[in-house]
Order: sequence, then structure tokens, then C-alpha cells
Amino acid sequence: MAQLQAVKGTRDIFPDEIARWHYVEGVIRSVAELYGFNEVRTPVFEYTELFQRGIGATTDIVGKEMFTFQPDPNGRSLTLRPEMTAGVMRACLQKNLLSQSPVSKLYYISDLFRKERPQAGRQRQFTQFGVELLGVSSPAAVAEVLTFMMQVFSSLGLHDLRLRINSLGDLDDRARYREALWDYFMPYQNDLDEPSKERLEKNPLRILDSKNPALKEMIAGAPRLYASLKQASVADFEKVLSYLDDRQIAYEVDYLLVRGLDYYCHAAFEVTSSELGAQDAIGGGGRYDGLATELGASKELPAVGFAVGMERLMIAMEKQGLFTTLNPHGPLVYVVVQQKGLTDHAMQVVFRLRKAGLKTEIDLAGRSMKAQMREANRMGSAYVLIIGQSEIESGHYSLKNLETSEQTSLDLDALTGVLHEAVTQESARP
Ligand code: HAM
Repeated sequence: MAQLQAVKGTRDIFPDEIARWHYVEGVIRSVAELYGFNEVRTPVFEYTELFQRGIGATTDIVGKEMFTFQPDPNGRSLTLRPEMTAGVMRACLQKNLLSQSPVSKLYYISDLFRKERPQAGRQRQFTQFGVELLGVSSPAAVAEVLTFMMQVFSSLGLHDLRLRINSLGDLDDRARYREALWDYFMPYQNDLDEPSKERLEKNPLRILDSKNPALKEMIAGAPRLYASLKQASVADFEKVLSYLDDRQIAYEVDYLLVRGLDYYCHAAFEVTSSELGAQDAIGGGGRYDGLATELGASKELPAVGFAVGMERLMIAMEKQGLFTTLNPHGPLVYVVVQQKGLTDHAMQVVFRLRKAGLKTEIDLAGRSMKAQMREANRMGSAYVLIIGQSEIESGHYSLKNLETSEQTSLDLDALTGVLHEAVTQESARP
């Protein structure tokens, strides 16, 4: 029988890599705290309709990338979440969260699922961190989430990022733009690829999102949405840009940026990294004032947010050497047993040290003393505690500092004191 493998497009994360995840998650959580965002967790699957209505039926995500299943013949269709925004909005509307306070500031670090062709930086299960600010989407709110995102990147030391931003205007602006696009692409109808021909009929904006190199030139010549914006939309967008200028956040206005999800309006943005190759988008977001009503809310709920792909973020960090100083700490003390019959006593010592808050390891495989010493060194333990027959009889154990090779013989209370002292000194180190 063939040995089972992980599903294509998924990956396992082992302890040597997990230190990186904890570090990045820790930075995200601490910046979230500074900005007053609180964590939200929503279910991994939702009714399929949520994403069809929220993200848009003509998008790639809904059209071909969702993992959809029917739990029973008469049940409603369910889908593994391909993104977080629709689910977070659904949850907030359901709980009527905005009745408690006019603004809700939420963040998440969550797993998502998209049936895309796996390649470097593109998985079928991946993780995003992101924020959703509900209740207001003023230029100040847009600038708040953008500044949050850029502060996470700078706290992690990530550089050479490119922030592109555009305004998608409001519904009227986009309706006018759709007409302008239709007029532009119609004469080229026969040169379009099949998906774009379909998009021309259903949602010409999506053509701008095409990755087909053969269409690149034609798309570059398309009219700009910006030209269809009414004065109020332009003023709103310029205010966002002025906040970014004030905060010295570098950006480029990209008049062809439309994003791959239909719920956006007004400011929409994307961050790319030159470290990433073909899948260079590290994060993206924008305003989505119309999502609540798409999901059935009786009135519009202004909102803005973004999400960043954790795997891509970490690939870029790795390329920039930002993980080199990240060394997971080994145990403080490794308890070495001289002969097999003493293991039960040694386990009691281990238990007492751990209860006293000391990071303690012991060999569970019954290996030789030499092998235990080797393992203590391999794990980077600071001390070994040796337990032999005479130690048990005298109640004094020999503690060896593996860095200095100094050895002392102490009873358990004194030993606990010395080890606590060592922890205090270690944490006081710069
Ligand atoms: P998105 O642009 O679809 O936006 O995804 C955001 C980020 O998730 C991407 O820039 C990328 O880094 C990462 N990502 C997407 N697909 C994959 C994949 N298959 N494998 C690895 N990473 C991936 C959204 O999802 C919106 N919900 C963002 C948002 C939040 N807008 C408003 N609020």
C-alpha cells in the first residue's frame, strides 16, 4: 500500500519553523493592540451563498476556486472560506455588533482555502492576517488600516515593498466606467480570450484583472476609472493620499488596479514584494461599503480592511534574512539518568522542577547516559542535572553548567533557587 501524502497545495509546519510563525504572530498581535484592534474568529465554513453574494459571482474565487460541498442531499451548499471579509461581516451583522458601538475594529490570523493551481507562494490552504474596520470608512479610517499594515511590515523589518492604490469610486462611478470599458473593449471582442469575452458581457471591470500576457497591451490602453469619478469621490481619495503623505508612507497611484473581489469601492490597494516572483502580492484591501447590503442588511454599513498572506510575508522575510537571529531556546535543564532503575525518581524531580516554572527535559526513550548528554547539547540546554544512586541517597544532585563546565552539588530546593537565578539573569540580558 502506498504511503499517504499531504494533499497538494497544503503543507505541514514543524517545530523548527513554528518559532517564525510565533514571532510574526506576536508582532501582529502587539501592533493590533497599539491600534486598538481586537481578535475575531469565525467558522471555517459558511453557506456558499455568503461568498457568491459577497465576493461576486463573476470573480475567479467564486467562479472556480471554492471548495464547495453538500453535507446531505437536501442540505444547503457549504463552502470552505476562501477569504475572511464576508464571514466577518456576516458575523457582525448577525450579532448586531454595531448597535453596541458605532465602530468595530477587528483583526484575525486565519486559515483559508482556494482551489488554485499550487506553486511557490500559492497554496490551497493558506493563512492570512488582516483587519476589518466596520462602521466608518472615512479617509481617516482607510488611512488607519493602511498605516496599521505598513507598521506591521516595518516592525518586522521588511523593506522594498510597493504599495499601489486606486479609487474605484461609488456605484454610479463604476456604472459609468463599466460603460466606458464596454465601449473600449467591444471593437477588440475577437481578440479577447474566452474568460474575458464572458467578462465583457457580465462585468468588464474583471478584464482589467486578467493575468493573460497577450491582453496586457490592450488593458494598458483602457480608459481609467479615475476619469469617471465624480468630484466628491476624487476629493475623498485625495484626502486618503494626503494622510499617507503626512505619515511618509510611500505609494503609487495605479489607475488600473481593480482587485480580484467585487465588494470594493473607493480606495483599494495592494502591496507587492520584489522578493516573491510570480505571486508577488503580499497583501491587499480597501473599502467595501456595499457588502452589508449585498448580504441582506437593511442599510449600508461602511467598512474598510485588508489582508496579508502569511506564507508570502514569511517567504519575503526569509529572503531578506530577517529570521537569522530567531533561535528557539532549548531547555534550561536536562535531567540525565545514570541507570534505568532510577527513571521513576528522576521523573519526580522533573515534575517538581516544571511545577516550579523551570523548563526541564528528560529522555523518554531509555537511552544511554552518553546519548542523553549528547541530546542535552543538541537541544542547547543550559544545564544538565545528573541523577545516580548516590545522588538519590544523599538528596544532593550534581548540576553542570554546559557553557562553563562548572559543577555543583545541591539539594532540590537550593537547585531550584540557582536555576531561577539563571533564568532571571538570562532575561535581563540585552
Ligand atoms: P486577497 O487579495 O484575495 O484579498 O488576498 C490577500 C492576500 O492573501 C494576497 O495578497 C496573498 O498574499 C494572500 N493569498 C491569496 N491567495 C493565496 C493563496 N492561494 N496562497 C497563498 N496566499 C494567498 C482578500 O482576501 C480580502 N479579503 C482582503 C480584504 C480584507 N479586503 C478587505 N478586507
